[in-house]
Amino acid sequence: MTTVPASSPLPRFPDGFLWGVSTSAPQIEGAVDEDGRGRSTWDVFAAQAGRIKDGSDARVATDHYHRFREDVALIQELGVGAYRFSVAWPRVVPDGAGAVNGAGLDFYDRLVDALLEAGVAPVPTLFHWDTPQALEEGGGWLRRDTAEHFAAYADAVAARLGDRVECWITLNEPAELTLLGYGLGQHAPGRALLFDALPAAHHLLLGHGLAVQALRARGATGIGIANSHGPTWPASDSAADTAAADLYDLLLNRLFADPLLLGHYPDDGLAALLPGPVADDLATISAPLDWYGINYYQPTRIGAPRPDAAGPTDFAGIALPPELPFAPQKIEGYPRTAFDWPVVPEALTELLLSFRARYGASLPPVLITENGCSYDGIDDTERIAFLDGHLRALHRAIEAGADVRGYFVWSLLDNFEWAEGYAQPFGLVHVDRTTLARTRKASFHWLRGALRL
Ligand code: NOJ
Repeated sequence: MTTVPASSPLPRFPDGFLWGVSTSAPQIEGAVDEDGRGRSTWDVFAAQAGRIKDGSDARVATDHYHRFREDVALIQELGVGAYRFSVAWPRVVPDGAGAVNGAGLDFYDRLVDALLEAGVAPVPTLFHWDTPQALEEGGGWLRRDTAEHFAAYADAVAARLGDRVECWITLNEPAELTLLGYGLGQHAPGRALLFDALPAAHHLLLGHGLAVQALRARGATGIGIANSHGPTWPASDSAADTAAADLYDLLLNRLFADPLLLGHYPDDGLAALLPGPVADDLATISAPLDWYGINYYQPTRIGAPRPDAAGPTDFAGIALPPELPFAPQKIEGYPRTAFDWPVVPEALTELLLSFRARYGASLPPVLITENGCSYDGIDDTERIAFLDGHLRALHRAIEAGADVRGYFVWSLLDNFEWAEGYAQPFGLVHVDRTTLARTRKASFHWLRGALRL
């Protein structure tokens, strides 16, 4: 990939456009045994042999819990207006249900105050996959009452932080938790239920809806959700490939967006896989949002499974079992990140315009709640080219009518990339794995300069 010429400034974004960086608690905080925090599913999963590719865990991660003031100073220096972080449910309600741990909330109190002092808007995500282990042992998101416990936890966070937070995110990427955590077992809680994972999708959506009610009851505004989306490209125009691509698209894109934005599931055929009648729940799930968050990384090319294909196919670095009715195929002809993900900025334009076409007036203003890439090194010219390309693609979508109000880079820091451990660095800031020292990368300096123009 070529270096972006310095003489090529980014196009101007609309006045008031919100720039931010994103992280999540389980990927950066560490301090897993401090101040009364309970176990999370990721603590337990990462401790199991063979689950994390480099054998690491997130007990220390970037030690953000102790270094948050240094990290807030970096955010301020970068010049963005907002910081998306997540609140760890097991810090606030150690057993997932029942007693609230005031000491856990104290940390987020300090973080929010530090951000506001630095002139940075706090954007907390209430759930970024770290389910309290005690709830998981009773069935986790496969159970309906997990959604109710989540809403009680959301209420506790809003009671403490609601006087200073003006922008809330309920859930992060319920699709990935459902697919990778419950469907394939590649993420915590490590269950491989295939299509029997779908009740988790419904209960996550219900948890979102109940949390929205809890937040609104506390007077919160600025409520949204962060869902992962990307265009699905059929491998060919054959009936088998287009049907496989349609099913994949349904599971990754429409299964979550349709109930939220249209108030119904995308296909009646799903009813048999959902946990009983869902009509009342859909009214809760589809309560109006103030904005809709999209995490975008890459498009996916999908074909029908080929009986002759030996072994599993690959999805974003994750092996898929051959019995699935769709098979991801490599997208050729584009640069690739260290994670081997294709770099396709124009698919972001395509995605935003297809969202506008599908959801029309039902779609509130959009925030890009994550976009970024994994590359090694401090002199990360490839990350600069990635961000430059995606910001231009975003600008084209806005010019073509997409109502996008903000963009958050994933991520501020190199961090614990789930089953990949620390092998996939997404940060604008490098974190030394031995000393935990922070070093600004070339992309940090580039973004700082770009935001000042
Ligand atoms: C989306 C997830 O929300 C985040 O936790 C993850 O690190 C990035 N994708 C990159 O894979």
